[in-house]
Amino acid sequence: MDIKIAPSILASDFSRIGEEVARLEESGADLIHCDVMDGNFVPPITFGAQMVKAIRPHTKLPLDCHLMVLHPETHIEDFAAAGADNITVHVEACDIPALFRMISSYGIKKSAVINPETAVEKVFPAVEEGADMILLMSVHPGWGGQKFLAETLKKLETLRDFCIKCGRGELDIEVDGGITEENVKDVISAGANVIVAGSTVFRSRDMAATVRRLRG
Ligand code: DX5
Ligand code: ZN
Repeated sequence: MDIKIAPSILASDFSRIGEEVARLEESGADLIHCDVMDGNFVPPITFGAQMVKAIRPHTKLPLDCHLMVLHPETHIEDFAAAGADNITVHVEACDIPALFRMISSYGIKKSAVINPETAVEKVFPAVEEGADMILLMSVHPGWGGQKFLAETLKKLETLRDFCIKCGRGELDIEVDGGITEENVKDVISAGANVIVAGSTVFRSRDMAATVRRLRG
């Protein structure tokens, strides 16, 4: 499967966000991952649809919006209008079938995500509901720069097996949190093909070389 690299702007310099996004596109990234946090579903507050609207003119890359928010249904219209290409909602925060219908009504991609402590089986119905992507959190959501939780590897394998069994073997499986040049091979072998990386990409001296190495 094609490996796609999705740097998270959480680790970028917000005072120069337009340039940061353009720099990501030049580096060969495939998606721009936008970590939206509401201070409720997770303790920190990051940004909302206004940020997505602000970065939209600076890149042609798809904007992959990860909503770590309670009541995501109240925000879908705003993110769609802001130019999101994919919206990922937490199984822990909403009714997936209803949210998928709502997101699809705007003609954009819909994805589901689970936290590290949530059993992988909880995301299986979203695969059957026609998710465009499934995201497995490999850190507790809320902060960049955390250590990768190794138990995610087993969950990735179980999820990829399930996708194959139900005829969706080519489904995009994204992994988010603590990904480094050292552990990326393991997550890809376990079944992930969309790699979110915040700190690893933004702390590197040569972003393009890092993106290339993450792709493997
Ligand atoms: C955590 C976010 C992640 C995070 C990844 O809540 O969803 O996207 O920014 O950052 P790193 O790669 O630094 O772990
Ligand atoms: Zn994320």
